[in-house]
Amino acid sequence: MRSLSIHSASAELASLTKRRVVYILPSGGHTIMTVKKSVPWYSERAGFFGPLYFVEYARALTPQRTRREVRFVIRTLGLRPGARILDLACGHGRHSVAFAREGLDVTGQDLNRFFLESAKEAARTEGVSVHFVRSDMRRIPFRSRFNAVVNLFTAFGYLGSDVEDAKVIQQVAKSLKPGGRFLIDTQNREWLMRHYRRSRNERLPSGVVVTSERRFDFETGRNQEIRTYRLSNGRKKVFKLDMRFYALNEVIRMLADAGLSYERAYGDFNGRPYSMDSRRMIVVARKP
Ligand SMILES: C[S@@+](CC[C@H](N)C(=O)[O-])C[C@H]1O[C@@H](n2cnc3c(N)ncnc32)[C@H](O)[C@@H]1O
Repeated sequence: MRSLSIHSASAELASLTKRRVVYILPSGGHTIMTVKKSVPWYSERAGFFGPLYFVEYARALTPQRTRREVRFVIRTLGLRPGARILDLACGHGRHSVAFAREGLDVTGQDLNRFFLESAKEAARTEGVSVHFVRSDMRRIPFRSRFNAVVNLFTAFGYLGSDVEDAKVIQQVAKSLKPGGRFLIDTQNREWLMRHYRRSRNERLPSGVVVTSERRFDFETGRNQEIRTYRLSNGRKKVFKLDMRFYALNEVIRMLADAGLSYERAYGDFNGRPYSMDSRRMIVVARKP
């Protein structure tokens, strides 16, 4: 495969997949063609949120970290046993399962079957009941149901435009009960800018070598990355990531546009205030 430069890559990224399509011709006959179809980088077919995600993030996502995050959410949102919570983009269910263990009534929603299956297995192993739903975050199939919605570990800003991201917040607002709260946890854009690394080259404990080329587009606020995993069997997997990083004032505006009132921003899961030195931006809002 040709090597990809981030500047020329948008049309020829790893998430291009080959598909065979039958075209019906005007004559009534047909022809079969192989076409390349572009799929969103975060989709199941693109494969970024698949087994390699665990290889990359296993070190970061420790049980202690999850416990701290869950305790913070429960305390900050004032959730009591029996409260209904939606874990939006729940991934492999690390928070969903822990919330259920704390007695909450949990729904986990995600787009990727691979993660949902891991989440279901984790719930079974822990002996807790969680309702898992497969759906894009632009469609939350509930209305006025939840006391809280959470979106954790930078699971926002993936969609193709600000308009698409705004739909997610609108769906969150719809799914909350009056008085319900929304907590969103993403990487802090101001910190990212101060510590920006254009490239990365690292050997993970598993032996997989990760290299990245990154570029921040100031006009769109999007961070674009080409990430390559070199596996120990010599194979190579290349993914493109393309994420919008919002400044706090932009998030507050999106919340307001969806009818949610901004309450507070934190800089970490110990409750420290948000600043340009915080790695995280944790925003809490309320549905009036
Ligand atoms: C960085 S992971 C975070 C997972 C989980 N919240 C955690 O803290 O471990 C992002 C998650 O978003 C999910 N996701 C990506 N695009 C999505 C979409 N359009 N709709 C719903 N979920 C999506 C992925 O499948 C993945 O599980």
